[in-house]
Amino acid sequence: MKNKRVLIIKGSARKEGYTNRLCDRVQELLSDNQIVVFDTFDEKFLPCNGCNYCEKNGRCVHRDLDVFFEQFENADLIIFASPVYNGTFSAPLKGLIDRFQTYYTRFYASGKVQPIKKRRRAIFIAAAGRDGKKSFDFMKWQLSCAFSILNVEFIHSVLCPFTDTEPRYDEALEELKRSFTYE
Ligand SMILES: Cc1cc2nc3c(=O)[nH]c(=O)nc-3n(C[C@H](O)[C@H](O)[C@H](O)COP(=O)(O)O)c2cc1C
Repeated sequence: MKNKRVLIIKGSARKEGYTNRLCDRVQELLSDNQIVVFDTFDEKFLPCNGCNYCEKNGRCVHRDLDVFFEQFENADLIIFASPVYNGTFSAPLKGLIDRFQTYYTRFYASGKVQPIKKRRRAIFIAAAGRDGKKSFDFMKWQLSCAFSILNVEFIHSVLCPFTDTEPRYDEALEELKRSFTYE
């Protein structure tokens, strides 16, 4: 893969944690591409307040994610990366996923026309202190629901489990490398 737009959406509090280490490897593996990183722990954005402004106005009432949404719509590949926190995404990443509500309302307001014209691909990376499988499956399902109205094809997912005891980092990295052999 070369000369593509890659958006890495980070959801881990720990810069040196397993999620971010895997994201760093993605940056190395895809260095021939234009990479933008959006770290939900560094960026400041408001949560969705369910005001339904987007239903009538075609955009979110908050303007703090305008640049992000543009990058999200124009990317070729999107990486979602999150630790498992209490069985799901970290709070900031969950907050970002909730902000996709603006696309959800537009999808239904338009009679189920995809609000984003460009078809993009996505890979999900997660790290869990324990086996994490149930949470990982649940998070994949949550993302699949969102992707169905975001014109995103979910191509791969990688879990790095047992980080509290015997991290399976090397296996996760090998699995991640396989993700990029799809082209
Ligand atoms: C607030 C919090 C909640 C957590 N909840 C879970 C959990 O539900 N299941 C689990 O397997 N690990 C849980 N963990 C452990 C993390 O998933 C694990 O430490 C992971 O490696 C964190 O990602 P990181 O290495 O990228 O920082 C939790 C950790 C924190 C800080």
